[in-house]
Amino acid sequence: MDSQPQTWHHGLVADWWAAFNDDFRAHEIPYFREYLEDDGQPALDVACGTGRLLLPYLRAGLDVDGCDVSADMVAACRRKAANEGLDPKLSVQPMHELDIPRTYRTIFVCGSFGVGSDRTRDAEALIRFREHLEPGGTLLIDAGFGFADPAEWSAWAQEQRASLPQTRQPESDRRRTADGTELAISTRLIDVDPVEPQMTKAIRVERWRDGVLEAEEEHLLHHVVYFEDELRQMLERAGFRDIVVHGEHERRPPTSDDVFLVFAAKT
Ligand SMILES: C[S@@+](CC[C@H](N)C(=O)[O-])C[C@H]1O[C@@H](n2cnc3c(N)ncnc32)[C@H](O)[C@@H]1O
Repeated sequence: MDSQPQTWHHGLVADWWAAFNDDFRAHEIPYFREYLEDDGQPALDVACGTGRLLLPYLRAGLDVDGCDVSADMVAACRRKAANEGLDPKLSVQPMHELDIPRTYRTIFVCGSFGVGSDRTRDAEALIRFREHLEPGGTLLIDAGFGFADPAEWSAWAQEQRASLPQTRQPESDRRRTADGTELAISTRLIDVDPVEPQMTKAIRVERWRDGVLEAEEEHLLHHVVYFEDELRQMLERAGFRDIVVHGEHERRPPTSDDVFLVFAAKT
């Protein structure tokens, strides 16, 4: 086991998140917010990233702290908060070692459980979450499924697996930042392991200024793939009860068309 989770949210990837990801999957923001406003404060945003959820909640006057394993993501979150005159309590720590001198009514983990991690650490993280929740507090965790992306899902088939790692994607998403540079980002699949199951992806980010490549980085990300039953059992083993599963960050039962499930569990 690596000593720290293997994520790609550093350096230029953190710059990309800070610059462009505020509007990503906007419907998730009101989903968690409803829980926070319904006797769910104080709350902790685990793996808060650059504050896509945290900043709107702080703006609304909600009592929410944040933590993340990436010092670069936390620094960007702090900078963005300070630009708005906000001063959230943020810390840099991996979720499986969560250690914050405060307990919460709600802990939420959005787009991050199983990211950069492994099953042993994730089981430990659930225990840490329970220890940081007040009695009757709520844990909210989502899990996304790769079958939303046919290119990614088809790679699990035996004959496709043999062709991994994918070669570098010629297509990248390229955007201009506020300081006039351009960031170009592309991802590719390195490996899938159907036995665990888990996958490894690579991300490449380039920074261009006036048509000249100024910097480039490539990072790896391990991603544990959870299906409904396994995550439910892990929550039960960690001592959670009253587990409810929603589809697509909406307060309704999941359907077979949903590519995201959200687990709401009580201490
Ligand atoms: C896909 S981003 C999501 C960020 C934010 N939750 C959002 O929805 O905008 C994943 C985040 O999880 C963080 N992360 C990954 N593994 C982590 C771990 N083991 N402990 C804490 N944070 C982690 C990354 O640094 C990154 O900021």
